[in-house]
Amino acid sequence: MSETIREMISEADLEARIAELGEQISKDYAGDSVFLVCILRGAAPFACELAKRITVPVTIDYMATSSYGSGTVSSGEVKIKTDVELSVEGRNVLIVEDIIDSGNTLHYLSDLFKNRNAKSVRLCTMLDKPERREVDVDVDYVGFTIPDEFVVGYGLDYDQKYRNLPYIGVVEL
Ligand code: IMP
Ligand code: MG
Repeated sequence: MSETIREMISEADLEARIAELGEQISKDYAGDSVFLVCILRGAAPFACELAKRITVPVTIDYMATSSYGSGTVSSGEVKIKTDVELSVEGRNVLIVEDIIDSGNTLHYLSDLFKNRNAKSVRLCTMLDKPERREVDVDVDYVGFTIPDEFVVGYGLDYDQKYRNLPYIGVVEL
């Protein structure tokens, strides 16, 4: 319990950026609706805040995934632990993630929803760490691009801690 957290992105900056994303998404889906698929647990605070800023009709469902493999190194395989309950067929799916690291999770989920006959599939992430990318993914909406540091807060955890921080911080051990 000796780690300290250095603030990287303030609560005000996060919320301002999320409002901009919401505005952009509302324009892009104008005259239509959007089905947010929130990836648990980390993306929940971001997805809630984002949904409040979208002015077209919104549906929200949740999915939990895990990567096979141990530690902090993703093996590339993704397992669905909890699936969405609602059908995505014919819907505009917008996958909402906390952070893209290797890209494996979003790459896998994007294909999955296309195979389930979504009308469209787009990706939205609060944070992007492009230096760590292993597979190419087309991300449509990015909150902030950050350097390769381990971050917590606004849904992101370190050993299940700090998800409740209202800002993004770097763990200093
Ligand atoms: P990937 O893009 O498939 O490697 O998976 C990204 C997932 O790894 C995210 O949804 C997070 O759960 C986790 N993750 C990656 N980087 C961080 C970080 O800096 N802090 C907390 N979780 C992270
Ligand atoms: Mg996650």
